[in-house]
Amino acid sequence: MYYKILLLFVLCGCVSVPYGTQEIIESEQQVTRITYPVTDSTLINDQIIEIVQACRNSFSLNSQERQFSYQQYIEEDTVSFLFTCYEYGLTSHSTYTALTYHAKTYEEYGIQELGEYSQIPIEEDHDFYLDEDTIYVPDGDSIQTYPRNKILSIPMIQVDGRNEEESEKSKPKVALTFDDGPNARYTPKILEILEEYDVEATFFVIGQQIKSHENVIMDMIEAGHQIGIHTFTHRDLTKLSDQEILQEISSTKEVLKEMGYTATIVRPPYGSYNEHIVKLIKEPLVLWTIDTRDWESKDSKKIVSLVKNTVKNGDIILFHDMYASTVEAVEILVPYLLDQGYDLVTVEELISNCKLSCVKE
Ligand code: NI
Repeated sequence: MYYKILLLFVLCGCVSVPYGTQEIIESEQQVTRITYPVTDSTLINDQIIEIVQACRNSFSLNSQERQFSYQQYIEEDTVSFLFTCYEYGLTSHSTYTALTYHAKTYEEYGIQELGEYSQIPIEEDHDFYLDEDTIYVPDGDSIQTYPRNKILSIPMIQVDGRNEEESEKSKPKVALTFDDGPNARYTPKILEILEEYDVEATFFVIGQQIKSHENVIMDMIEAGHQIGIHTFTHRDLTKLSDQEILQEISSTKEVLKEMGYTATIVRPPYGSYNEHIVKLIKEPLVLWTIDTRDWESKDSKKIVSLVKNTVKNGDIILFHDMYASTVEAVEILVPYLLDQGYDLVTVEELISNCKLSCVKE
C-alpha cells in the first residue's frame, strides 16, 4: 500500500514554521514514515529536503522500520529544527541533523546567514544531551559536522534525554481527538471511558449535528474536554469559496457560543487545506500525528496495535466517535497509555508548551 498524507500540525502565523508534511509509505515488510516541516521560505525548504533526501538515501533495503521526524524549537527570532533519521532492522541506528535560522531576515541575508547545521551520528538513541548551546556526545569522536566544519549552537530545550531531572518532571503527553461527532450512540460511551479514568480529550464536532445533540455537548463542556470546529457541514474546504469557508467556521462557532463555549481551534475535514485557507481562517488548524484509520478498519485490535506501536510524546491521535470498534479500542488504549506514563490532555494543553506562538495572534 502506498499513500501520502498531508499533515498539518499546529500553524503559526508569525514565523516561518507554518506546517508539517507527512508522507507514509507502507508495505508488508516495511514501514517508512517521513515527517518534515514546510516553511514559507523556499531556501529553508530546499535545505530541509536535502536533509530528508540524505536520510532516505541512508536507509538500508532490508530494514523493517524507517523514520524521519523532527522537533522544533522557536525562541524570539530563532527557529531550530532537530531532525532524526531512524532505522530499525538487523541493526538500529539514528542520525541527528540540526538546522537553525533567523525567522524574519532569512530572505534579506540569504542562505549564508541562516545558521549552520551539523550532522551528528550517534550510535544509540538519545545518547546525548544539550547544555546551553552545545551538544555533548559521550563518544566525542563520533561527532561529524555537515556541511561545514562547525558544530551548531542549538537553543533547543525540547530534546529527549537532554536533562534527566527535567524529563522526570514533565510527563510525556498525548492528545486523543475525536472527529465527526457528536454521535448519539458512541460519543456518550467515549465520554464515560474518559470520565472513568479522569482524563481529557478533544472533540472536533460538525456544526450541523450540535443542535440535535446538545446534551452530549453539555457533557463534554462540563467534563472539561476541548471542543474544536470540524466545520458546519463537513465539506472539503479546498472546494469552497472564501465566503463559504468562513461561513462553515463561524456558524459552528456561533452554535457553540450559544451554549456558552468558545471554540478556538479548527480541524479541516479530510485534513484537506491549502496555504490560502491557512491564511484565511484565523483560528489555528490542527491535524494529527497518528491516524488510527478507525473508519477504514473498524477493527479495535488493529487500532490498538497501531497506537501501541507508534505512540510517542506529543502525539495527537485521530479517532472518530462513530464506531463501536473505536469505543472498544479507546477502552483499552486509555488505561494502556496511562500505564505507560502518558498524561492524556486536550490539544490546547498539548500545544501550550510551544513557547512562541503556536497560535496565531
Ligand atoms: Ni471528519
